[in-house]
Amino acid sequence: MPVEDVVARARNGLAQIPRVPGAPKPDALLVADGVRRSFGGVNAVDVEHVEIQKHVITALIGPNGAGKTTFFNLMTGFDKPDTGSWVFDGTPLAGVAASRVAKSGMVRTFQLTKALARMTVLDNMRLGARDQPGEGLFTALVKPLWAPRERAITEKAMTLLERFKLDTKKDDFAGSLSGGQRKLLEMARALMSDPTLVMLDEPMAGVNPALTQSLLGHITDLRDSGTTVLFVEHDMHMVRHISDWVVVMAQGKVVAEGPPSEVMADQAVIDAYLGAHHDTDLGDDALLDEGGVIDAEAEAEADAELSPTTKAEEKAP
Ligand SMILES: Nc1ncnc2c1ncn2[C@@H]1O[C@H](COP(=O)(O)OP(=O)(O)OP(=O)(O)O)[C@@H](O)[C@H]1O
Ligand SMILES: [Mg+2]
Repeated sequence: MPVEDVVARARNGLAQIPRVPGAPKPDALLVADGVRRSFGGVNAVDVEHVEIQKHVITALIGPNGAGKTTFFNLMTGFDKPDTGSWVFDGTPLAGVAASRVAKSGMVRTFQLTKALARMTVLDNMRLGARDQPGEGLFTALVKPLWAPRERAITEKAMTLLERFKLDTKKDDFAGSLSGGQRKLLEMARALMSDPTLVMLDEPMAGVNPALTQSLLGHITDLRDSGTTVLFVEHDMHMVRHISDWVVVMAQGKVVAEGPPSEVMADQAVIDAYLGAHHDTDLGDDALLDEGGVIDAEAEAEADAELSPTTKAEEKAP
């Protein structure tokens, strides 16, 4: 079946799914059960059951501290739960190291970008490749064994950099990029391994309004080319605009899920947000059409905060 039909079928299939937390999906790519993680008595994540549908864009929303990032960390092996199991693309992943999770096809980006500031844009991209050349000592010592693979990786990196309009920056240090460009670089790098599922933690945060439309386009393109997308975002205009399905977390639990228009009209969801911060704008498509997705001043401030040379090192684990 052509990929457009696969995607259309997956999106249409969502209409049949009951609007209840933990609802079963016709074609779930990621299924988590009883996943709990507490920090000093606070249940950061306490997810009884959740399924992420393949071939669609799912938004994971919820107030600050709801457990969204912790959930990403757990699923991708960057943190370990107290209890729980999850299956990705048919493979149980509890206890599997982050590098092996990525190799299995589940790749994530970080809320605070982890682009390596003192490395060039192109070298950052090369790091994202699934099989590094020269991984084994023997291979490393015999150039004819890795040179073709190395060339292929560079070509692929350049193709992706062109797609994300970063090709002219390939020899610049990642630290010299703006906050928004670093977000794009991180997304491009995640794609180096041809992931089945891309998990984006606040892809729009710190992105200049001039870049937001293209970023939205990149995300829908991913879905349309057959990649499943799960993203965390506070920008409700973006959530409304591009997600096929929305999962809402509050206090570690999944409290609601459904299509964006329904979820955002749900009183429990509004309460979950307004309970945490009263000024949350739950989004309106009309505003998107005017191009004003993110307040330009806030964006400039966010960009200024991301001091180019220090940030990546500060946040490196
Ligand atoms: N490493 C940690 N040590 C202690 N507490 C943590 C740690 N990581 C997260 N928490 C706590 O777990 C809860 C969930 O945090 P998390 O970062 O997952 O929320 P979030 O939904 O991503 O929030 P935001 O929207 O602000 O990014 C919060 O109470 C947070 O303070
Ligand atoms: Mg977070």
